[in-house]
Amino acid sequence: MPVDATALPTGNGQTVCVTGAGGFIASWLVKLLLQKGYTVKGTVRNPDDPKNAHLTAMEGAADRLLLCKADLLDYDALREAIDGCHGVFHTASPVTDDPEEMVEPAVRGTRYVIHAAAEAGTVGRVVFTSSIGAVTMDPGRGPDVVVDESCWSDLEHCKNTRNWYCYGKAVAEQAAWEVARETGVELAVVNPVLALGPLLQPQVNASIAHILKYLDGSATRYTNAVQGYVDVRDVAEAHVRVFEAEAAAGKRFICIERVLHREDVVRILSKLFPEYPVPNTCSDEVNPRKKPYKFSNQQLKDVGVQFRSVIQSLYDTVKSLQEKGHLPLPISRNNMKMMCYC
Ligand SMILES: NC(=O)c1ccc[n+]([C@@H]2O[C@H](COP(=O)([O-])OP(=O)(O)OC[C@H]3O[C@@H](n4cnc5c(N)ncnc54)[C@H](OP(=O)(O)O)[C@@H]3O)[C@@H](O)[C@H]2O)c1
Repeated sequence: MPVDATALPTGNGQTVCVTGAGGFIASWLVKLLLQKGYTVKGTVRNPDDPKNAHLTAMEGAADRLLLCKADLLDYDALREAIDGCHGVFHTASPVTDDPEEMVEPAVRGTRYVIHAAAEAGTVGRVVFTSSIGAVTMDPGRGPDVVVDESCWSDLEHCKNTRNWYCYGKAVAEQAAWEVARETGVELAVVNPVLALGPLLQPQVNASIAHILKYLDGSATRYTNAVQGYVDVRDVAEAHVRVFEAEAAAGKRFICIERVLHREDVVRILSKLFPEYPVPNTCSDEVNPRKKPYKFSNQQLKDVGVQFRSVIQSLYDTVKSLQEKGHLPLPISRNNMKMMCYC
């Protein structure tokens, strides 16, 4: 279901901070917050970088968006950005499996953001963007267990499998809860699965690269693996709902529409876009097909989120990649004819 911003409660003149405002998820969040009447202080590492120009071009940005320069490891810059805010959406994070690039900024940055929110004295709630990576990485979980907000990833397992992104997100989320308890800051956490959908930012982020590789010929086979998927516009809406819903304080919210095997993903893509070289063979010819895990997204439905179907998200992802020039447009029959004449 598309987000109808006018059907949601308005920002009531409140000012909120969004960290990492130029990222894939945060850009949609900033757009939705502006549509709803909030004033937004968005942190970016370089306000003059042309990759952030889409933010200042958004409707409402001229009057109600202020870009603030801040790195996650710079407490004073974060403190200044959060100054005078009624709420904080802490979305900035490295997205990498390099342990040195990932863990320190994710964890220390999260501690800094919540401390800065406490020090500001005006912040009613912090919404932290965690990840399903802080939830599902547990080899001891049986196949019939329903993944919900009570599940936590096993840190030793993340380390042993060198899954430093999941490790960093899980430790950062633990730090968020710990600092919130110590400082009395009201916290709510969104745990999205892999986000798809149209890009507002010019560059391809990691979750979109996951799909692009099946279309541009760089992946010739798909893996025997399953993955949860959700639309980026629903992730943005989930953040705003969780910020605004009284009862969301102190809770985690799993943000997921569906779990698919990679085989399902490539089948949908090749049916929707047969013109691209989508792989049709699995790299694992030995093991049985991995089964999807069970999950609950009831908590987000209870605060009003209605999830778009993953098929729609996949379609919109590809159209957006074409529009932004990351994928060549298919050659239409008419164009083919034209080329034959030349
Ligand atoms: N996309 C997904 O599938 C997904 C799923 C679950 C959770 N998440 C979480 O959602 C959040 C946003 O992800 P995304 O997919 O939108 O990623 P993204 O497009 O890569 O955006 C990440 C943002 O974080 C900023 N950032 C990274 N390191 C930073 C640092 N040291 N200091 C300040 N800013 C820093 C980046 O700023 P620069 O532009 O300056 O690099 C960028 O704006 C992350 O917390 C991620 O873990 C994403």
